[in-house]
Amino acid sequence: MKVAIIRANPRKNGHTQKLTDLFIEGLKQGKAEVTEIDLKSKKINQCHGCYNCWLVTPGKCVHDDDMASIMKVFTASDIVVFSTPLYIYSVSGYLKVFLDRLLPYMKNEHLPVGSENIRNAIRNPKQWPQKMAYILVGAFRGLNTFEGARKTLELFSEGLQLPLSGSLIRPESYLLPFTYLKPKTIKNVNASFKRAGFELATQRKVSSVTMKRASAPLSENIEHFTEDSNIYWQEAQNLGSKAMDPNYVNSIIVRNPKILISEMVRHVDPQATNRLKASIQFDFTDKDVQLAIKINKGKCSLEESKIDNWDLKITTSSEVWAQIFLREINARNALSEKKIIIEGDKSLFARLDKYFSLPCD
Ligand SMILES: Cc1cc2nc3c(=O)[nH]c(=O)nc-3n(C[C@H](O)[C@H](O)[C@H](O)COP(=O)(O)O)c2cc1C
Repeated sequence: MKVAIIRANPRKNGHTQKLTDLFIEGLKQGKAEVTEIDLKSKKINQCHGCYNCWLVTPGKCVHDDDMASIMKVFTASDIVVFSTPLYIYSVSGYLKVFLDRLLPYMKNEHLPVGSENIRNAIRNPKQWPQKMAYILVGAFRGLNTFEGARKTLELFSEGLQLPLSGSLIRPESYLLPFTYLKPKTIKNVNASFKRAGFELATQRKVSSVTMKRASAPLSENIEHFTEDSNIYWQEAQNLGSKAMDPNYVNSIIVRNPKILISEMVRHVDPQATNRLKASIQFDFTDKDVQLAIKINKGKCSLEESKIDNWDLKITTSSEVWAQIFLREINARNALSEKKIIIEGDKSLFARLDKYFSLPCD
């Protein structure tokens, strides 16, 4: 089966690129023959709306650019997959320009679709893909924000006679590198993009379970999302021009102490701590940041300052603390290896994994 991937993301090290790469891995594993078209690297002029392609030279556009060679791949494919970032509640400009240029492949013949909609006849239905799928990646939380782009792509699917065989929508893209938010879900999200490619190659459609997994929420609610994403953007801003490289930003921000300790606060076990009153001071050596948490009878709060009357003081790097929080390394081993230094109530330190649950989901 031939699959054409129309990549409409200008940023080549962003989230749309990475998730689409996983999808393609799955397609190839399912033995699909994949051809990728990167719209950013192509010369595609905007449609002038002259209708020359209908009225003067039917099927031929006035523009002489890369569109003709792209359409050779497009029309020869069985399934076409559009991959786009969400830009201002819609598909990217690269994709929109491409879609407009499909006018020569339609005819000036209107047909009804159901009782409400109209579509144009396809000029050469024998040389036309059988199906389409799409990948849509955005930064904001909630599927509502994707409605405009989603509707555009659904109407396109109906109007261009390309029945939809899969729609992968990924919100909260900037939280994906924060694995301690929801380690299992994040793993599942990445796996679902690969799985989706495999399903498309082997079953010619993506299952609803896989599509749902791809969209799984990472933050608990809108406040949680806003807090974490604002920390991300403030930190990125501090990196100046280096923040242009998302891999660099992620390597710096992904172990952000404030997000890390906020997550710890969020994962306090109210029952295990219902009789505890204690303060823990954190000193992150790599980030020059002091944070503290106060536990008071089942409730836990974050203090963004140094506190004097701590019961336990933990000095470590944010990376080591993240690994302990995720139970990737053993806290006692980290202690004996001097990756972590504790002062004060050592028994409190020993009980931390009872008081704070693992962020699994
Ligand atoms: C011009 C522009 C407009 C954007 N508009 C939105 C938007 O409306 N909603 C949203 O959730 N994200 C928006 N984003 C963020 C992208 O969707 C986000 O970066 C996402 O990860 C996909 O882009 P990427 O593949 O470059 O990472 C916008 C980004 C840019 C550059």
